[in-house]
Amino acid sequence: VDVFGFGGSLRRGSFSWALLAAAVELAPAGVALDLFDRLELGNFPPFDQDLQESPPDVVREFKARIRAADVVLISTPEYNYSVPGYLKNAIDWASRPYSDNVFAGKPVAVMSASTGMLGAPGPSTTCGSASSFSTHIRSTSPSASFPTRPTRSTLAAG
Ligand SMILES: Cc1cc2nc3c(=O)[nH]c(=O)nc-3n(C[C@H](O)[C@H](O)[C@H](O)COP(=O)(O)O)c2cc1C
Repeated sequence: VDVFGFGGSLRRGSFSWALLAAAVELAPAGVALDLFDRLELGNFPPFDQDLQESPPDVVREFKARIRAADVVLISTPEYNYSVPGYLKNAIDWASRPYSDNVFAGKPVAVMSASTGMLGAPGPSTTCGSASSFSTHIRSTSPSASFPTRPTRSTLAAG
């Protein structure tokens, strides 16, 4: 199973990216996890529908890697009860033009880590928007929330 993963944080010490690194380590045999560059979502220009047919190279590469994957894995913090703007922006690029929505029929899983005690309601928020861009997942999107800084042992315990 080929999984393409990316994080919704640009931060060097990002917990969201730590989750992705753990997923690489814990992936069972037969699962290959390909990760996007941590800073790359920050290089996407703001989505412009006039350019959707001829997107910039960074968007082309992002779409190609999603297209090539069997599953997409997003690990994101919640920012102000939503997802970081550049993550939403990347999702918008990848979902257009409508006839070339690379999420269509693609299973998407969402993980979230938060330093807050309440955990990260982000997964449900993100899944809410994920269900609108991935016709496959609807309300059955798997999600995982890791409040208050996950340790390696809590990650391994699942
Ligand atoms: C702009 C901003 C908004 C945030 N909003 C929320 C929030 O709504 N809910 C929450 O649980 N944590 C929120 N946080 C805290 C993040 O969950 C925490 O900083 C987290 O570590 C960021 O993810 P990262 O470690 O992958 O960078 C916010 C942080 C920032 C910088």
